[in-house]
Amino acid sequence: MSTTIQQHATQDAAGSIPFIDAMSDTEGAKAARDLFEQAYGEAPEGVWAAPGRVNLIGEHTDYNAGLCLPIALPHRTFIALKPREDTKVRVVSDVAPDKVAEADLDGLKARGVDGWSAYPTGVAWALRQAGFDKVKGFDAAFTSCVPLGSGLSSSAAMTCSTALALDDVYGLGYGDSDAGRVTLINAAIKSENEMAGASTGGLDQNASMRCTEGHALLLDCRPELTPLENVSQQEFDLDKYNLELLVVDTQAPHQLNDGQYAQRRATCEEAAKILGVANLRVTADGISKADDQFQALKETLDALPDETMKKRVRHVVTEIERVRSFVRAFAQGDIKAAGRLFNASHDSLAADYEVTVPELDIAVDVARKNGAYGARMTGGGFGGSIIALVDKGRSREVAQKIADAFAVHGFHQPRALAAVASSSAHRVD
Ligand code: GLA
Repeated sequence: MSTTIQQHATQDAAGSIPFIDAMSDTEGAKAARDLFEQAYGEAPEGVWAAPGRVNLIGEHTDYNAGLCLPIALPHRTFIALKPREDTKVRVVSDVAPDKVAEADLDGLKARGVDGWSAYPTGVAWALRQAGFDKVKGFDAAFTSCVPLGSGLSSSAAMTCSTALALDDVYGLGYGDSDAGRVTLINAAIKSENEMAGASTGGLDQNASMRCTEGHALLLDCRPELTPLENVSQQEFDLDKYNLELLVVDTQAPHQLNDGQYAQRRATCEEAAKILGVANLRVTADGISKADDQFQALKETLDALPDETMKKRVRHVVTEIERVRSFVRAFAQGDIKAAGRLFNASHDSLAADYEVTVPELDIAVDVARKNGAYGARMTGGGFGGSIIALVDKGRSREVAQKIADAFAVHGFHQPRALAAVASSSAHRVD
């Protein structure tokens, strides 16, 4: 896939699973700056970076006004950018360093740009649509060590780094505060939804823009909450408990814009309508407050017309509760309980939400059999990555077992990375 990923993957011995290293800010800034100079023959105004993410737990809950718990990865997308006087946009990336894509913001309509350049172009378009008339065109060069198409939010890393860069060079003033960043997040989401045509519920962009080092971001997606109310930083210090968080990218094809994701969303919205609530969070909260929660869940499911809808709702409602339980378990140092919640989340995504594929199920199974406290898919599913909570020093061994099992099944070779809770988008140069 990306040449960058090849460059930054370290492989110890023949046949061993590659680990993708994160680029430092200095390395990333230099690479993006060099690419910019090579493409446009002049220097950029600066370089900004935004991370990919893994969601610890709380999957397919964001668009149901639920809870999720992402951390930012140390793996980032770097953008070197220079504003233009006109409305032209030119972008290039290290995946194809000789191909500069061009668009014009003047008269641009939703879905008016094809290919990957829709993501950054759409951010400027969305800001202008939101009334920020001073945003004009730009030239940009991207370099990234976030593996593409791996369920680790490489697209959010691209849209969020673009939003932060545009905020800075056009002096919008939203990038400096957590609450202000929500304006930029909205532009990133609009770009992905309306320009690139990829559904997304906001988890990824909030993670990329609002996570802090050493913490997981407890994100409450109820629309009535203000930016000051909807996040809290939860300590996520793996060292404290002698743990590592292994991420394995299965390399199974991953796509959210193929209709499956949109179908899940539509089923949830339809269920909420039938239940007479604004969203499934209202249902989940009602059940969690009931004296007999089992009975309350049963009554809710009985009110739904078909088996598929019952399964989808059961996942969402139980997953929201699992986020609360995970936060409690981890804070108390009950790693076994935290691991069991990872497992329960995955099993629910496999059986009830039906978004896993054999690669994800097998990777999770092998991790569990090889001593992980818990393992689950992360992100939207239908391919992508898994995460496993393992004792310190065991990541490579567990990752290798997964790679060996993949070889037996004839799957693509997976690749791995080590996740630690890192900081959000920032200017690097
Ligand atoms: C994708 C979407 C997110 C979220 C997850 C599932 O990553 O972009 O908004 O819905 O799937 O939790």
